[in-house]
Amino acid sequence: MTRSDSPDKRFLADYRPYPFILEQTTLSFDLSPDATRVKADLALKPRGGAEDLELDGGKDLRLMSILVDGTAPDPGHVRRDGECLIIAAAALPDGPFTLTSEVEIDPSANTAFEGLYISGGMFCTQCEAEGFRHITFYPDRPDVMAPFHVTIRSDKPVILSNGNPVRQEEGLAEWHDPWPKPAYLFALVAGDLVAISDSFTTKSGRDAALNVWVRPGDEDRAGFAMESLIKSMKWDEDVYGREYDLDVFNIVAVDDFNMGAMENKGLNIFNSKLVLASPETATDADYERIEGVIAHEYFHNWTGNRITCRDWFQLCLKEGLTVFRDQQFTSDMRSAPVKRIGDVQTLRARQFREDQGPLAHPVRPEEYEEINNFYTATVYEKGAEVIGMLKRLVGDDGYAKALDLYFERHDGDAATIEDWLKVFEDATGRDLAQFKRWYTDAGTPHLKMTEEWSDDGRLILNFSQHTPPTPGQDEKPPRVIPIAVGLIGPNGDEVAATRMLEMTEAEQSFTFNDLGARPVVSALRGFSAPVILERQIDNATRAFLLAHDTDPFARWEAGRDLALSALTALAQGQEGGGEYVDAIGQLAADASADPAFRALCLNLPGEEEIATRLSASGITPDPDAIHMARNGLARRVAEAHADLLSSLYDEMAVSGPYSPDAGAAARRALRIAALGLLNRIDRGDRAEVLFGTAGNMTERMAALTCLIRRGRGHAALEALHQQFGDNRLVMDKWFAVQPMAAPPEDAAAIARRLSERDDFDWKNPNRFRSLLGGLAANHAGFHAEDGAGYDFTADWLMRMDRVNPQIAARLSTAFETWPRYDADRRSRARAALERMAGMEGISRNLREMVSRMIA
Ligand code: ARG
Ligand code: ZN
Repeated sequence: MTRSDSPDKRFLADYRPYPFILEQTTLSFDLSPDATRVKADLALKPRGGAEDLELDGGKDLRLMSILVDGTAPDPGHVRRDGECLIIAAAALPDGPFTLTSEVEIDPSANTAFEGLYISGGMFCTQCEAEGFRHITFYPDRPDVMAPFHVTIRSDKPVILSNGNPVRQEEGLAEWHDPWPKPAYLFALVAGDLVAISDSFTTKSGRDAALNVWVRPGDEDRAGFAMESLIKSMKWDEDVYGREYDLDVFNIVAVDDFNMGAMENKGLNIFNSKLVLASPETATDADYERIEGVIAHEYFHNWTGNRITCRDWFQLCLKEGLTVFRDQQFTSDMRSAPVKRIGDVQTLRARQFREDQGPLAHPVRPEEYEEINNFYTATVYEKGAEVIGMLKRLVGDDGYAKALDLYFERHDGDAATIEDWLKVFEDATGRDLAQFKRWYTDAGTPHLKMTEEWSDDGRLILNFSQHTPPTPGQDEKPPRVIPIAVGLIGPNGDEVAATRMLEMTEAEQSFTFNDLGARPVVSALRGFSAPVILERQIDNATRAFLLAHDTDPFARWEAGRDLALSALTALAQGQEGGGEYVDAIGQLAADASADPAFRALCLNLPGEEEIATRLSASGITPDPDAIHMARNGLARRVAEAHADLLSSLYDEMAVSGPYSPDAGAAARRALRIAALGLLNRIDRGDRAEVLFGTAGNMTERMAALTCLIRRGRGHAALEALHQQFGDNRLVMDKWFAVQPMAAPPEDAAAIARRLSERDDFDWKNPNRFRSLLGGLAANHAGFHAEDGAGYDFTADWLMRMDRVNPQIAARLSTAFETWPRYDADRRSRARAALERMAGMEGISRNLREMVSRMIA
């Protein structure tokens, strides 16, 4: 595509610094639901020659007045051009000047939840990526940074913004943020809120007041968020030497939020589902996510805020690094191996899927139409994997030195991936030119491994790498791949500890000498690179690794492979599964293994993952056959190990008051895994008892899912609705689980029926995501042969697009795998996509997504 035939596209290559320096931003808000006034004073200074001043500003801004140094410019020098306001150079002084504008906006009409909007009667903002331009005219780009001084008038009792409080009185608050920041980090909240409060003293003795703000009545569910915040602050000091830098740190929970949470300087705004938790309403997974996301947003204070991005192409600079940091944090707080396995599962389920389809893009994209469409698993999760590889290549010390240099050199900067890599080169002396391909080249490399053994004790490992083409990128030169390898002797002892092989060529061999007997190779330990490993390995060797590998990831992976090879065979009408059933029984019985690890091994790969594995081997996945194959194998496991599973189910019950810690959560995870299998042969009896007696949501949701799968969910669903009908977060789960656990042939109809309910408050992003995401998570249901899943989804995406384009575009990724299915499904999916593409008034967000998927 060339620049001229795609006027809406933005290109990395077109970057140009802003021609003005912004020295100070002073804002004054007069809040009112449908007529909020925003006055902005921008202290500007031209960088050089006489240039027009271009400010971003959405069509929803009503310009009331504009002044240059207090005087109205000649109207002929001011023009609106699409989403811009342009003041001609002729109307501007040569030196510093102040531009004053006043606009009126209507937060009550803002259903897109971008900019200033109202959620549950509370004013709040979301400015990343380009929301600030819906608040006032401004250079809304991350490389324009300024200190902010903000005055807010409102009748709401609590009025918050970034930085430190300067003045708080009835009807007015004034905030000052001394740290220069881009507009996307601006935030404002005004509402009837209550806080749970604590404090933190940094290691150099600075006191910070901490508050988690929620709606009255929710206070008793905010304590875990506060604990998580304090742990995060301590961890970032201990591990990265990073201290907090303001007098207050505020977190606010809001019900209507497009994403998870937002790292606004000193005023993080969160989707309430990532703040509020109690044992009765939140699952162990919810607790772990809350802890991780609180940490993530807090860590952004250094990786994102103090050092921000030059432009949105560099999004992975802050997101990849911050995800990497929150993953490290969770590993330290909980079980590192279990965390790693979970992260790899997510990466494969979301990022590999993205990389294999029409939406594949590099970790650092070079073009986009709508940046909100690039808050993806590739930018976030693969961005984090790339940093993990970098750390493996330069070692822990090299990583620590590089990070110190990064903070020292770039504090206060809007930086690039080039800056980031240069820091590693300077700190370690390594050349990272080839490594950079991980940022610029899309696609998941396939790594083939073969073995050559000679009886004089020599083992040669031959590797070859190949990355399939992705949209716009046909040729993929070889990348540097760190391959962690260990060797296990025939008796199960490790004969060679983990060695990091560094592959740089398309084909490369590595030799191990002086081995006594032929060892079994444990390859790609710890998932040392985000690649697809292809090796010739039989089921006996996989079972051996599952029993003996000392690397927990590789051990789990061996079991996973065993399961997937059985499931892919079964889904094609072949035999298989015997070795898996035997091996998994042994592992489940191994009381020395962490219950969480055993649970991970007992959970069969999902249907989506089976489909992905089939399609990676060039086989068209049949969703119904996959569904049956998986059910069949689960049933065989249950039948073969009924006694063992039943005693695990009983033994793993946790007594005493609920605690979300890793140890207790691990026991519940194993108990639930056993329940899920037993549910296939006990008609749902255990699940029914558990649903009625469990005191925590983790077990109740698991039981409910089991009951629905047995066609016995009705009473439990009623009961949950009775008890929690007024709790949004629980009702979101209630909406999600029904299409998700439904028999595939009924899933779309169930979703449609639920969508007709009065309490399907579809404009709430969580509720919408619950229902549509629940259906999309039912692989055979979404891909039902008659196209009902596609049609239902497309209908609702089009409806949502008029109200909230970001949410519509995000959920459209349900379709991203469509090209891999059979001709019938393909033609139905294509018809649904084309129907969306042809929609009158389609948003830029959804248009970009569907056109990339159809292309
Ligand atoms: N920076 C936020 C986070 O990762 C994500 C906000 C994205 N919001 C959006 N509308 N694109 O923590
Ligand atoms: Zn982030």
